[in-house]
Amino acid sequence: MNELDSLVESATQLFAQSATPADLENAKAQFLGKSGRVTELMKGMAQLSVEEKKSRGAAINVAKQAIEAALTARRQALADAELQVQLKAEALDVSLPGRQRGQGGLHPVSLTLERIQGIFGSMGFDVAEGPEIETDWFNFTALNTPEDHPARSMHDTFYVEGGAPGAPNLLRTHTSPVQVRHAVQHVKKHRALLDAGQPMPEIRVIVPGRTYRVDSDATHSPMFHQCEGLWIGENVSFKDLKVIFTAFCRTFFESDDLVLRFRPSFFPFTEPSAEIDIQFQSGPLAGRWLEVAGSGQVHPNVVRNMGLDPEKYIGFAFGMGPDRLTMLRYGVNDLRLFFDGDIRFLSQFQ
Ligand code: DAH
Repeated sequence: MNELDSLVESATQLFAQSATPADLENAKAQFLGKSGRVTELMKGMAQLSVEEKKSRGAAINVAKQAIEAALTARRQALADAELQVQLKAEALDVSLPGRQRGQGGLHPVSLTLERIQGIFGSMGFDVAEGPEIETDWFNFTALNTPEDHPARSMHDTFYVEGGAPGAPNLLRTHTSPVQVRHAVQHVKKHRALLDAGQPMPEIRVIVPGRTYRVDSDATHSPMFHQCEGLWIGENVSFKDLKVIFTAFCRTFFESDDLVLRFRPSFFPFTEPSAEIDIQFQSGPLAGRWLEVAGSGQVHPNVVRNMGLDPEKYIGFAFGMGPDRLTMLRYGVNDLRLFFDGDIRFLSQFQ
């Protein structure tokens, strides 16, 4: 092997041993740099004749090109290797399962409200809603609770700005005001029939919604839910209330032997009035009377405020607490758990 061939070989070897681009550039300098070995060979030609310079120069050039080719090849190899390392590091396994978003679900009280609507819907009741900021008139006066009536103090009311002098607006303390709101709309819609002395379609409605009272402990929350019920017609009796509400409770609690008790009570907007208690015959609550609703025959003054003649129209109303129904159904003993927003608690109901 002549001197130039072995120069090419040692350059190729040194390049091959260079593990990084920086090493490779150092190795390059040893051969192709200003005082590199190829440059030295060129300089050494100064003494040679023109003829000799020609052939020697050509031979050195061939060697130089070979070294440059080896350098380029090694550069490329190092770059490829680096790319491979990078690709491996950034590798994406497309066969891995994606990150799942947890499946949401309804709040237990919403589940109860849906359940109530489903059951009453199957018995022909519509669903109505009303405002949470209510006037004094609809929340109290229209419901036969005049300003100085002691029943007003049964409700610890949150008053808000606005309203009439001496009768400020408030956060509704019950869903009962929607009885009157809904009935007034119903009467308006069927005004022509009423004026013609024709029978008006019955009012059969439930009103689920949020209600507010200044009250807070394990069984009371300042915001709570109620669901009102109202059935008004020409021939609706207390017996219908018993039948309807018994069917509702037995369906809601999936318990055919559930017993109901209508305990005489007082509400300004009903006469007679009753608290409704239920009793389970089996399970952890068996034998205890549990209050679930207030109810009664709608007071003639309220029927009048609905725009109807109490001599002709009669019916019943009830108001129940969906929060309490949810507690009884699932065996929860602290109402506040429903409103803390703790996902560990709430996700148990899905
Ligand atoms: N509004 C009553 C309350 O919040 C509950 C109630 C009682 C509603 C009797 C009614 C009813 O419709 O007839 O305590």
